[in-house]
Amino acid sequence: MKFFVDTADIAEIKDLAATGLLDGVTTNPSLIKKAGRDFKEVIAEICAVTDGPVSAEVVAMDFDGMVAQGEDLAKIAKNVTIKVPLTIEGLKACRHFRNKGIMVNVTLCFSPAQALLAAKAGASFISPFVGRLDDVGSDGLTLIHDIVTIYNNYDFETEVLVASVRNPIHIVESAKMGAHVATAPASVLKALVNHPLTDRGLETFLKDWAATGQKL
Ligand code: E4P
Repeated sequence: MKFFVDTADIAEIKDLAATGLLDGVTTNPSLIKKAGRDFKEVIAEICAVTDGPVSAEVVAMDFDGMVAQGEDLAKIAKNVTIKVPLTIEGLKACRHFRNKGIMVNVTLCFSPAQALLAAKAGASFISPFVGRLDDVGSDGLTLIHDIVTIYNNYDFETEVLVASVRNPIHIVESAKMGAHVATAPASVLKALVNHPLTDRGLETFLKDWAATGQKL
């Protein structure tokens, strides 16, 4: 499973990239607002930190507007992935970008039917939002299971990019289902490493090593 970080914070991205475990970055207009930086400048900086796909979202609602914005964003770097919303206009724009060899992430997916359409439109990535479904009393992980099943049935090349991830369980369960990518806040990605028995075991090993009086 590939790991993307869901942030527009350059320091966070650099920190994670240094681990060698980061495969890409996703942003959205809310994350750009949080960063308080110029959108295109931030995307350019992120693309300089990682070779992996970097999602930059269009904000136009119509096909022509999405195409104009997306083509402009795609000029920033070759790893820019244009993020379009799951609407008919967004799907039309998705097909347009894919025909031009530009990667596309279709975002705001909340149903298997929507994911099927995105795959038919040639999306590079589909972003089902698990956390937001859980938030309204639905089951986000069931959506991942359904999408993975449908995509496997037809050998679609679209990658399932699990989004709106709130905790390590979302990532582990999605990995068990065969989802290709998870995008999560840095805090959630870092939480994957935690286990109290690792901490306790390390403490004991270090204590016992010190008691040997040896040095390495
Ligand atoms: C995905 O690309 C989105 O930016 C993101 O995962 C949304 O997550 P949220 O529901 O925590 O805002």
